[in-house]
Amino acid sequence: MLFEKYQVKNLDLQNRIVVPPMCTYQAQSGEVNQFHHTHYGAMALGQPGLIIVEATGVTPEGRISEQDLGLYTEYQAEKMKSFVDEVRHFGTPLAIQLNHAGRKSTTNDPTKYAPSSIRFDESFRTPKTMTKDDIARIVEAFAQSAKYAAAAGFDALELHAAHGYLLHQFLSPLSNQREDEYNGTYRARLKFLREVLAAVKSEWPAEKALLLRISADDYHADGNGLAEYQEMMKAIAKEIDILDVSSGGAIPIQPHVYPGYQLKYAKALREATQLPVIAAGLLQEYDLAQFAIESGHTDFVALGRSMLTNPHLPIALARQSGQRLLQMKPYNKGI
Ligand SMILES: Cc1cc2nc3c(=O)[nH]c(=O)nc-3n(C[C@H](O)[C@H](O)[C@H](O)COP(=O)(O)O)c2cc1C
Repeated sequence: MLFEKYQVKNLDLQNRIVVPPMCTYQAQSGEVNQFHHTHYGAMALGQPGLIIVEATGVTPEGRISEQDLGLYTEYQAEKMKSFVDEVRHFGTPLAIQLNHAGRKSTTNDPTKYAPSSIRFDESFRTPKTMTKDDIARIVEAFAQSAKYAAAAGFDALELHAAHGYLLHQFLSPLSNQREDEYNGTYRARLKFLREVLAAVKSEWPAEKALLLRISADDYHADGNGLAEYQEMMKAIAKEIDILDVSSGGAIPIQPHVYPGYQLKYAKALREATQLPVIAAGLLQEYDLAQFAIESGHTDFVALGRSMLTNPHLPIALARQSGQRLLQMKPYNKGI
């Protein structure tokens, strides 16, 4: 049921609707500002079960763009704390997605980092093959950002290993052609992610949920398909609490999309890992969202673009299910 509670560690979700991370490109110097307070506050008033704040860079060059959020300075962390305090006031728990964009970064920094020196396409810079020191620095940056996220009061943390960003770049043979222990088998390609998970867990409180977002298909014969991602996620399932399932982004290919197009991936990964999963991809129609959960395809539905057009969508969906979101006292009389 869409409007059923769920608890993961000390994360209490009032319903199964998750706002997935969506970059808004409104930050300067990586800092949250009035836009983020209002944007996320509006969605919090809509009462989803969880909001995952957009991809946030763990280093300056790890941001996707110059306008992305960052969490690598004390000042960014302080501003993030007042943001979390304010938005959480409306009752919805908040997660943050930590990211390093690797070869897909478009920031002004001249050096881009990647497992191998292969550019994404002609519009991107050719990245530097990461040395062991580069790897150690970025692993440590993830840990430091996790520490800041905990201090800011986030309820959960998501690592971005999807959409062709750095963690995904190590997982996929399309972008990882290293000749050291970080490549060879899928287990070797998991090494960087395992190091990041271990480092993050040294700073992120054990009682708080840790989410991992992956792409379940590289959409290329030489990349990983669902079977490879099932094996990889089985190998690390005990390290995470919720698996957030997306697809694509490893290479510039646009898959055919339609309502529920990623549900098959969510179901397959749910079965392989026995973890609670989040599915995304045009799931905003009540009947489809409800079906996705009742049929066991997924535990949570992510509503992304539909929440941008209507940040109060969960209230409308609750009405369709014949329920009121009782915590919405300011609106209940009118509704
Ligand atoms: C404007 C925009 C920004 C996005 N930014 C991110 C992001 O920061 N991190 C991420 O994992 N996915 C990102 N996504 C993907 C969404 O989280 C989601 O998976 C996708 O929009 C499909 O869900 P929907 O059909 O409900 O929109 C973004 C999508 C959009 C439309």
